[in-house]
Amino acid sequence: MRHLISAKDLSPEYVSKLIASAEDITNNPKKYAGECAGKIIATLFYEPSTRTRLSFESAMIGLGGSVIGFSSADSSSASKGESVADTIRMISCYADICAIRHPKEGSAMVASMHSGIPVINAGDGGHQHPTQTLTDLLTIHSVKKRLEGLTVGLCGDLKFGRTVHSLIHAMKMYAGNSFILVSPEELKVPDYIKEELSKSGVKFTETKDLNQSIKEMDVLYMTRVQRERFFNEEDYVRLKDTYILDKQKLSLAKNDLAVMHPLPRVNEISTEVDGDPRSVYFDQARYGRYIRMALILDLLGERGV
Ligand code: NCD
Repeated sequence: MRHLISAKDLSPEYVSKLIASAEDITNNPKKYAGECAGKIIATLFYEPSTRTRLSFESAMIGLGGSVIGFSSADSSSASKGESVADTIRMISCYADICAIRHPKEGSAMVASMHSGIPVINAGDGGHQHPTQTLTDLLTIHSVKKRLEGLTVGLCGDLKFGRTVHSLIHAMKMYAGNSFILVSPEELKVPDYIKEELSKSGVKFTETKDLNQSIKEMDVLYMTRVQRERFFNEEDYVRLKDTYILDKQKLSLAKNDLAVMHPLPRVNEISTEVDGDPRSVYFDQARYGRYIRMALILDLLGERGV
């Protein structure tokens, strides 16, 4: 039985297989409409979500399967003190696959150790979010037609942003990619990730200046400052609007820049750039459904490309 817990579980071969499968599903949705008939996904969300939970559910329904689950810890037995390990033992009796989001780093890993069904990490604290990364890779592949040789800018909360951590890990697997890490001092990428980049010989620079660095980028991945991971509100308020991508900043960028965001956005992208052809964040959300369909099919061992 396989799980998807971290971007470290992804290889370029596996990503290519899932992208090919997602593209085939996108082009031939009818072919897949009954593929998971009789199968159930459990979505166990101990933290808020719109896109991730609903795209998992919509993915399973699109494959002919069904959905059970909860969308907040309050409505599950976690509120009575049940452990993730015990919950997942039960869920294994009721579902064929599950997606779990939890505020604690490592919780999806713990779940996988006690699970009788494939576990997909839908976000564990400030650690990892591998299915957002699959969504991001499908988006980059669709827009840029390649995953190598790109200068990838990541901007905002690079410390707590789990999508950032997973995406860096995945993009560093591909030849010729380099990173420009744009953040305030307090929200820099954790040292362990920078050490991994250095060990792999991947080029990266850190800067506070988006205006200067945006010119170099092929992809700009904007992120929300992760309020829920801050220890005090004052720091959040001071840092939340450090970067706001607006028309003026975007005018400094390449004509074929891809502006991405895992969403939800708060202020970090001005709505005035939504109509710019370089803004692909809403497309990105759409791709999330298809790549999750491909992933569910693969982990359940159903037909895929
Ligand atoms: C992200 C998350 O939950 O980490 N959202 C998502 O899954 N698309 C990003 C965020 O909440 O800022």
